[in-house]
Amino acid sequence: MEYPWPVLLGREPEDTILRQVHSHQLAHWQQQPQAPWVTLSFAASLDGKIDTRPRPVGAQWRLSNARTMLLTHAVRAAHDAVAVGYGTLLADDPLLSVRYGVAERMPPEWRPPKAMVLLPHNVQRVPETCRLWRERRAALIEQPRTAGVAHTGVRAVMLEGGARVITAALQGASGGAKDTAGLYYHLLLLTISPCWLGSDTTGVAAYTSRATDPLSDVPRVRPIGCWTLDDNVVILGAPPETSPTNATREE
Ligand SMILES: NC(=O)c1ccc[n+]([C@@H]2O[C@H](COP(=O)([O-])OP(=O)(O)OC[C@H]3O[C@@H](n4cnc5c(N)ncnc54)[C@H](OP(=O)(O)O)[C@@H]3O)[C@@H](O)[C@H]2O)c1
Repeated sequence: MEYPWPVLLGREPEDTILRQVHSHQLAHWQQQPQAPWVTLSFAASLDGKIDTRPRPVGAQWRLSNARTMLLTHAVRAAHDAVAVGYGTLLADDPLLSVRYGVAERMPPEWRPPKAMVLLPHNVQRVPETCRLWRERRAALIEQPRTAGVAHTGVRAVMLEGGARVITAALQGASGGAKDTAGLYYHLLLLTISPCWLGSDTTGVAAYTSRATDPLSDVPRVRPIGCWTLDDNVVILGAPPETSPTNATREE
């Protein structure tokens, strides 16, 4: 079977987006056969927030709708690991698996993506109470802070946040980075939800700059396409032309 796995849902514009992901992955490996591919994917409100803190009791924001959630799981299936930062592990207790019937569409040779957690300094393991440990231990990669997403033997990683990881990946791909610890991306899959999550004190911003950052360091994205899926907007983008991601990277 051709790698990465082509995944289609039989619906537009989802299949156009999935074909775009696939063709960008193939082009990347033609140029850099050894370099791990990274798709950065997250959902944000109209004011660029990915969560609120604290959340109202019992609430978990659903920024994606049914179609963008399904699309996200189909894109997950075209990667061999789905990664989050330790903060997201603690906040959301995610499974990082392929669901919503996508796995059932895949050919028998397909293997579900592993789950990767980017660990903080001074932490070697995930808590044994988390669902990833209890339900997906055999498929779990606990990645040390300094290793980024490389050196795992994984060829395609879907990086799903949270805020500090997104900030590091955006900075890492923009070249203005200082402490990104090996994070970057090749393709951004951004879902925009038609709501505002609110002020700086409660809304968790997808990207956080430092007061001392020069304006020239603002991360930029080259738009590839933009589609409406019911009430969500999906944006596909690439790092700027000058990105270190576009130089040969053999990590
Ligand atoms: N809307 C969405 O699509 C979406 C998706 C995912 C998460 N979220 C939300 O994001 C929030 C969590 O974000 P967060 O900022 O608290 O946590 P985070 O970004 O998920 O994780 C930060 C943790 O990861 C560690 N880490 C390891 N390698 C890193 C690297 N290269 N760069 C940055 N951090 C690295 C950090 O270690 P150190 O402490 O050593 O720096 C830190 O402990 C939650 O509210 C969650 O719901 C939203």
